Amino acid sequence: MDVTHHRPALDAGFARRLLHWSSRVFFLTVLAGQLAFVAFILGFFVRHILAGNIAGWSEKRLITGYVAGDDTGNTMFAIHVCGAALLTLSGLIQLIPAIRQRAPRLHRWNGRAFIAMAILMSLGGLWLTWVRGSYLSLVAGFAVSLNGILILVFAILALVYALKRDFVAHSRWAMRTFIVVSGVWFLRLSLMAWLIINGGPVGMNGKMSGPADIFLDYGSYLIPLAILEVYFLAKRSNLPWVKAGTAMLVLVGSLLMAVGVFGAMSILWLPHM
Ligand code: HEM
Repeated sequence: MDVTHHRPALDAGFARRLLHWSSRVFFLTVLAGQLAFVAFILGFFVRHILAGNIAGWSEKRLITGYVAGDDTGNTMFAIHVCGAALLTLSGLIQLIPAIRQRAPRLHRWNGRAFIAMAILMSLGGLWLTWVRGSYLSLVAGFAVSLNGILILVFAILALVYALKRDFVAHSRWAMRTFIVVSGVWFLRLSLMAWLIINGGPVGMNGKMSGPADIFLDYGSYLIPLAILEVYFLAKRSNLPWVKAGTAMLVLVGSLLMAVGVFGAMSILWLPHM
């Protein structure tokens, strides 16, 4: 009798479907939360630009925001927030599977625009941080700058692999670029989820340099990047428990994101729209 042949405890097909559905839940949470972010940018920053009243930006607590007489800084900030709305929308369009499959030309052109805007946004962000001096503390300035440098490196690699027609490597670098481009959105969510879960600013000092702040400054994009790498591994793995475990990780991450989106909407965004 063959005693080595066990029935697998976890069905491979079920684990595969679970992983697939967890990625759908992740995407839908990102979609809802990033559309809310874009609505806030349009309903606050762009509304004031169109009304010719950029001084109105000061209604919200910002690091520097509007400064009377600083035409260069104000213009760079205006370009940054308008670019943020466009880049976020472009990233979402790029991830919609139906568009990738049914409108490959749109996918290609939007992809080029996404990479170009990502590069310009991170250069503009580095300018705002270090030339204009918009940072609350050095450690937070370094964290967002590393995020910006990762955007540059990943975007260039996504482009290089597309030009080499290595689409497997291209799509991996494009997804990594999406995660780091979403870094500042993840940061806002992380800060708000932390406040809600802990019932207050535990480990935070208002300068983004308390122990919890430092963890979130870097973790907000490094943890999602790490989860993406685990997801890549799980997709290739033949072990059902690796797929199911990763699906759980992605679902827990999505739940935390949903808490963060709720917090960001109710605390940071809706009151200003
Ligand atoms: C690529 C995706 C990015 C998006 C979508 C984005 C979005 C935004 C938004 C919406 C604001 C307005 C302030 C707010 O509402 O909190 C902002 C401000 C700012 N961002 Fe970005 N940003 C991105 C990347 C970066 C990077 C990579 C850096 C730095 C290296 C950066 C540095 C800044 C700075 C310094 C401000 C000005 C803060 C102030 O004066 O209050 N951003 N960004």
